Amino acid sequence: MPGYGCYVGIQYRFPRDSLVQFVRQSTEDGSITYFSPEFEETFHSEYGAVQEVQEQFIEPCGLLDLARRGESIRLINSCYGLGYNSAAAIEAVLTTNPTCPIEIYTMELDPLVIQQASQEHVLSPWPLAHRLLGSLPKTTEVQSESLTFHLLLGDARQRIADIPKGWANAVFHDPFSPTACPELWTVEFFQALAQTMSPEGVLSTYSSSAAARKAMLEAGFTLGTGLRIGRRAPSTIADFGVRTFPELGVQEQEHLLTSAAVPYCDPDLNWNRAQIKEDRKRRQAEFQGPSSNQWRKRWLKNRLVP
Ligand SMILES: C[S@@+](CC[C@H](N)C(=O)[O-])C[C@H]1O[C@@H](n2cnc3c(N)ncnc32)[C@H](O)[C@@H]1O
Repeated sequence: MPGYGCYVGIQYRFPRDSLVQFVRQSTEDGSITYFSPEFEETFHSEYGAVQEVQEQFIEPCGLLDLARRGESIRLINSCYGLGYNSAAAIEAVLTTNPTCPIEIYTMELDPLVIQQASQEHVLSPWPLAHRLLGSLPKTTEVQSESLTFHLLLGDARQRIADIPKGWANAVFHDPFSPTACPELWTVEFFQALAQTMSPEGVLSTYSSSAAARKAMLEAGFTLGTGLRIGRRAPSTIADFGVRTFPELGVQEQEHLLTSAAVPYCDPDLNWNRAQIKEDRKRRQAEFQGPSSNQWRKRWLKNRLVP
């Protein structure tokens, strides 16, 4: 029987009723991740879940520099999942500077993933954060001396309206891939994220998808190329023109001129996945520029496609 839950006034459907739904998988750094049957993807990269958080989110967003200076950290972690990003950020900041104020807003559609993760103690690599976040998802607000934490359950496209405007100085954007979860990679969702950020804010995401990057550009971000983890393509770092990031390479820039860069759209942040994909497909069919296949062949000929 599908259940209906009500958290903080938002009603949504529990997608399943059994508690253990996600298949555990080991990653190359020995940390575990889950596989989602619904999205047909793992929650983290196969190269290492713990390593990924550090190199793709904490470092590019400069959290430790802020912590060393004792500046308030106002972080949005777009998708809570198993809680690794939130836990790693809390642990890194509070072990660097135990009195550094850190406030986090995070969103999650599926409370069952949090429940399973909590039962399986997956946050134990971060003992301090494990203790602080141990009562999630029953508790959605956590307050300690230095930490203020808000879990917004429900669809991030709606729950983002509950985050103060102009607030965040760092955003970890970590949904499933644009193909699996296009609703969190649209121009409109990036616009909503941009509205929650202060002018000095910085956003980091693992994806280098041309469609995702184009959506970010249309939402007003300036982009840089981020680290490459394992054999993955480079990640993406974005802000509002305040920092000097490593520039996108020629290959990456040319990718943004192809049909692959037609962005996903979701005008009122309420289309279903099929509508979002269908709409993009229609706009790609009308697209006048080079196809992504032409781009791929050209770079393959030069043996430059990874
Ligand atoms: C790649 S995982 C996030 C991993 C996470 N950052 C971590 O550290 O474990 C993506 C998460 O997004 C959630 N999700 C998918 N669609 C969503 C939506 N529309 N709103 C909020 N969360 C969503 C999924 O349930 C999943 O937990």
